[in-house]
Amino acid sequence: MTETLDIRITKTDQTRLTVTDFSQLPFGKVFTDHMFTADYEDGEWKNLQILPYGPIPMSPAISALHYGQAIFEGLKAYRQPDGKISVFRANKNFERFNKSAERMSMATIPEEIFMQGLASLISIDEKWVPNQEDYALYIRPVMFATDPYLGVRASDTYKFALLTTPTGPYYSSALKVKIETEFTRADEGGVGFAKTAGNYARSLYPFEQARKEGFDQLIWTDSIAHEYIEEAGTANLIFVINGKLVTPSVRSTVLDGVTRDTIIKLATASGIEVEERRVSVKEVIEGIQNGSLTEAFAAGTAATVTHVGQIGYKGEVYQLTDPSTRSISNGIAKQLNDIRYGLAPDEFGWNWVL
Ligand code: COI
Repeated sequence: MTETLDIRITKTDQTRLTVTDFSQLPFGKVFTDHMFTADYEDGEWKNLQILPYGPIPMSPAISALHYGQAIFEGLKAYRQPDGKISVFRANKNFERFNKSAERMSMATIPEEIFMQGLASLISIDEKWVPNQEDYALYIRPVMFATDPYLGVRASDTYKFALLTTPTGPYYSSALKVKIETEFTRADEGGVGFAKTAGNYARSLYPFEQARKEGFDQLIWTDSIAHEYIEEAGTANLIFVINGKLVTPSVRSTVLDGVTRDTIIKLATASGIEVEERRVSVKEVIEGIQNGSLTEAFAAGTAATVTHVGQIGYKGEVYQLTDPSTRSISNGIAKQLNDIRYGLAPDEFGWNWVL
């Protein structure tokens, strides 16, 4: 049995719960009353604590700021019909967090710190978990290098934190996305599969250009010839082509998304054929034109299942089918939501009910 960790708890005497409007919850802006933090020093994790959410004092020389040793995760907790709270597939996010840590030469976090920190934080901020349809408590684990040293080397010290924010879906309607053929999100042998800050930083300039052209998001393509679809940066991409679910296979340039994996498992169990393989831009554009591509969506923890409504490529905008007619993706999205919210049996054992 795992030991119960000693977590120091300092509660706020000024809850913001009473002044928070739960009908207005933009993604990632409203934080709960508390956060969990831990420090890696002298080769071990120490100072496990839950404290009021707020600024963390730090040296301006910390290596995370200068050299980008910073990683994060995203998972969600859902209110169940009996009022309990369930965290969805926390193990997958924990494992991916440590994969990212290893690639970025950072300390890994022991499972019991990640899980017990999460359980204690959620139980203290329990009232912050929304109970409206499509809402959840978004959990943001983050770790960054804290050595106050300007030499370029892996830091010896790190701060780990768990932040929680009640939220609705990241996107509110079907997306108009642009297939990016000039800039690149990730390169072979690089860090594209890791959830590291720099991957998001490098996407901002291309995203801003696309936004000025009226797009909501980018579809990244391979760095060699921009011929193959990779992911959307904030989510993985899944298409329905000839009735099969088709999604770019995970590789060093594509994040191994938890929602993507969940959808693949649900689709397979429902008898829908799934193909994880390289997906060419040509196949997608031709599929829209000849009608074989009937559905497309972004899949992610923050994004949930968000339909792609239009795809821009080389100056043309291609209109996809009406999202309300998309039986496969709407069916899977419902199945997924029903499991998360405890409205359908959790046959895969994905819910961690606290
Ligand atoms: C998530 O889905 O949890 C993510 O990390 C996407 C985020 C960059 C908005």
